[in-house]
Amino acid sequence: MPYHRITMTHFLLQEQRRKGASGSFTALMTDIIFACKMIAHEVNRGALAGNHGLAGSENVQGEDQKKLDVLANDIFMHMNALGGNYAGMASEELEDVHAVHGAADGKYLLLFDPLDGSSNIDVNISVGSIFSILRLPEGVNTIEEAAFLRKGVEQVAAGYALYGSSTMMVITTGNGVNGFTLDNNVGMFMLTHPDMKIPEDTKEFAINASRSRFWEPPVKRYVDECQAGKEGPRGKDFNMRWVASMVAEVHRILVRGGVFMYPADSENMKKGGKLRLMYEANPMAFIVEQAGGLATTGRGRIMDMAPTHLHQRVPVILGSRNEVERLDSYHAEFDGK
Ligand code: AHG
Ligand code: MN
Ligand code: MN
Repeated sequence: MPYHRITMTHFLLQEQRRKGASGSFTALMTDIIFACKMIAHEVNRGALAGNHGLAGSENVQGEDQKKLDVLANDIFMHMNALGGNYAGMASEELEDVHAVHGAADGKYLLLFDPLDGSSNIDVNISVGSIFSILRLPEGVNTIEEAAFLRKGVEQVAAGYALYGSSTMMVITTGNGVNGFTLDNNVGMFMLTHPDMKIPEDTKEFAINASRSRFWEPPVKRYVDECQAGKEGPRGKDFNMRWVASMVAEVHRILVRGGVFMYPADSENMKKGGKLRLMYEANPMAFIVEQAGGLATTGRGRIMDMAPTHLHQRVPVILGSRNEVERLDSYHAEFDGK
């Protein structure tokens, strides 16, 4: 019986009733759901719609924008401005924060990476969208960068859409993690992965090994020990994965465990790391922690970091609790703490 499932809208309404909330939160999630469905459609049409290739522009971080980076950003901006639920937005693809005009009642701020893993678009490998929702601070009337610079622990919700072999949305509102699969025939996300939990132990790690010459000793030690397998200090064989789409890696970890690393290394250290704190690391950290995992820089909890600027980068180690704790302890030992 295929129709016993709960739609994402019904799920959000149930949460809203349970919390006695006003409904504005459900409305703003609806805008994100629309945006993600539209992006899924464009990703899926791919080359047929001329969606592959470069846009011919650079973003604020000096990265070449793909056509789909720009299109996904436009869709996210448009759909979320229409609902009037947000006072402001910030995106990987926009240098400055964007005030949503006419959203006099907007109580929330939206931060997003409209298309994550965009190097994978043209080769038809999974990409995603990531979002983080903050409450507009009391008494703030003008939408400036400072209003967005809040610790990850202040997020009211976070999630991602994965445009993979099926399209999924995975969300948290601070009450566990739930995953929904898009039924393309009816155009609705259905709850397929209730209360997702990351196993504490794993035999799988993900890191871009081409950067090994830049790694710090604690990361090198961890990877060497995994690669030593059964005969090494870990006493078991490990497998390695690298998709180069953080959304796909986090999703794999939520489903079957694992550890994902984009650590500080001697080359990216001057920029603070590779991944962006506000719209990549914080929302993923919120999801991972809500699923029982951990997310750190190797030297502290990601969601406790006080941000200093919108496009700030940060080292990221996340996933199965016991592996992240081990990596943290290797960093502490190396630092002499
Ligand atoms: P984006 O496409 O939004 O710029 O993010 C790409 C990120 C992340 O998704 C992925 O894990 C990482 O960059 C890939 O890095 P490498 O190119 O070093 O593999
Ligand atoms: Mn990204
Ligand atoms: Mn991106």
